[in-house]
Amino acid sequence: MKADWSMCPYLILLILHQTSRSEMFQLLGPAGPVIAVVGEDVVLPTHLKPNISAEDMRIEWFRPQHRDPLVHLYLLGESRNEPQNPSYSGRAALFPEELRKGNTSLRLSRVQVSDEGQYSCYIQSKSDNNYRIMVSLEVRAVGTEPVIFREADEEGEVGLLCESKGWYPQPDLIWQDSEGHNLTTEKPEILRDSLNLIAIRTRVVI
Ligand SMILES: *[C@@H]1O[C@H](CO)[C@@H](O)[C@H](O)[C@H]1NC(C)=O
Ligand SMILES: *[C@@H]1O[C@H](CO)[C@@H](O)[C@H](O)[C@H]1NC(C)=O
Repeated sequence: MKADWSMCPYLILLILHQTSRSEMFQLLGPAGPVIAVVGEDVVLPTHLKPNISAEDMRIEWFRPQHRDPLVHLYLLGESRNEPQNPSYSGRAALFPEELRKGNTSLRLSRVQVSDEGQYSCYIQSKSDNNYRIMVSLEVRAVGTEPVIFREADEEGEVGLLCESKGWYPQPDLIWQDSEGHNLTTEKPEILRDSLNLIAIRTRVVI
């Protein structure tokens, strides 16, 4: 009996093609954390490479380890935000016109301090291939110019109080003399407002 090897190159090619096919597609994201400013909009960028259309895929953005994880769900060609975490209601969207280019980025509007953390983008194609990537979001808010008040304590000792509001994350507040020596002796007082922004104040006795 003689084996017919004439089909062999085809078979090998077919196998190579099959195994490399799923590995060829990748879901790519940003190289590092995405930085957002409180009150502004931000894009968490992810896209498929090569840029096949994601229009008929399931695209799920969620926050792993959250009790109420769903940020945005796109399924069967439309957004289905049930059961969406209510804090993302009306604030999370994809870019519909970008989906056919494989761009599955999430847009978050009016960023809040509580948006900070890890996001997962999970994509499932019709043929059940799936892709997953994590994106880390860091939130910043720049507070007010420091304001200095004069005040006397119970013993009549005159001090100066320096205060600044609206920060995230927590800033440092340091008193210095004209030569740059640190005069800070007291621990700062930290307060959080209803938006979780931080106010800091420190007293110095003169
Ligand atoms: C996909 O990428 C290729 C190469 O970068 C580009 O020429 C093509 O226009 C892209 N397709 C879409 C739909 O954006
Ligand atoms: C995806 O779309 C967003 C919004 O238009 C854009 O900012 C981003 O650059 C796009 N990403 C890619 C890889 O084209």
